[in-house]
Amino acid sequence: MTDKITGVRTAFEADLARASSESDLEGVRVKYLSRGGVIAQLFEEMKSVPPAEKPVMGKLLNALKTESQKAFDGKKAGASHGPAQGERSIDLTLPGRPRPLGRKHPLTQTIDEIKGIFTSMGFSVATGPEIETDYYNFGALNFPADHPARDMQDTFFISKNVLLRTHTSPVQIRTMQNQKPPVREIMPGRVYRNEAVSARSLVTFHQIEGLYVDQGVTFSDLKGTLVAFARQFYGNDVKFKFRPTFFPFTEPSADMYISCFLCKGQGCRMCKQAGWLEILGSGMVHPHVLQNVGYDPERYTGFAFGMGIERIASLRYGVDDLRLFYENDVRFLQQF
Ligand code: PHE
Repeated sequence: MTDKITGVRTAFEADLARASSESDLEGVRVKYLSRGGVIAQLFEEMKSVPPAEKPVMGKLLNALKTESQKAFDGKKAGASHGPAQGERSIDLTLPGRPRPLGRKHPLTQTIDEIKGIFTSMGFSVATGPEIETDYYNFGALNFPADHPARDMQDTFFISKNVLLRTHTSPVQIRTMQNQKPPVREIMPGRVYRNEAVSARSLVTFHQIEGLYVDQGVTFSDLKGTLVAFARQFYGNDVKFKFRPTFFPFTEPSADMYISCFLCKGQGCRMCKQAGWLEILGSGMVHPHVLQNVGYDPERYTGFAFGMGIERIASLRYGVDDLRLFYENDVRFLQQF
């Protein structure tokens, strides 16, 4: 009987080791562990073992039974829950891992959209340096030295003549210096102003500037172009008005307003009850500016405009604190 038990144990271990699939395993189970299996038969044979040997044989047989079951269970669990030792397996039925998708920053989205509208009207895109000289930021743009107009824009000076540009208008000068008319460019970029940071003002923000210079460009061209832009960007039903203002580099100059798209001009928190939102500054390029870049102001005229991207984006999305655009909190960014 002892030999028999040892024999079954050896045979079981060999069969179990060879089993490589679920159905092999099932075969092993039926052959050894089921109610009619080899081990159950040994228990049957215990009945004819002499009583003196029964305790020892019983112990051996019980050990065979529990150990075989354990070995079997272990292998079965290994087979269905992952690779057995030394094997690698790929579960092709697992769903793929979703990759988190990035998206463009709302300011970039706004710049891209504005660029798209103007490039479709025949404008191309130009850029220029953020560190500028006094000449490009002010002088060439007809800000007289020591003129109070310079106080309109609080400037970060690096040295007496070098500064962080306070607007994108110096790119107008650089573009016109490098190119003969017709000039039809838009100029997006970052600008800097020495102001206290608050919900309504930042030390750095973005502008997009536009410039069109050719023979016979008139104020109607300015209005037509900007109205076409505003309709595409804010919707066809938007109303607009131009109000005279002053910039040293344009004459005449006008701020453009659109009817508040939130309250449709009725007056609300966004437009501060005015019913109108200021969206950009514009004007006819001052003859001095044309002269400064070597264009003949008797021959050429042009218009220019500039708008703040943060302002445009905040109006559009109802963001009431400009600082949110720079904190880069994903909970904010994910909404765009
Ligand atoms: N550069 C002006 C500003 O920063 C905006 C502007 C640009 C106005 C072009 C008129 C023409 O306020």
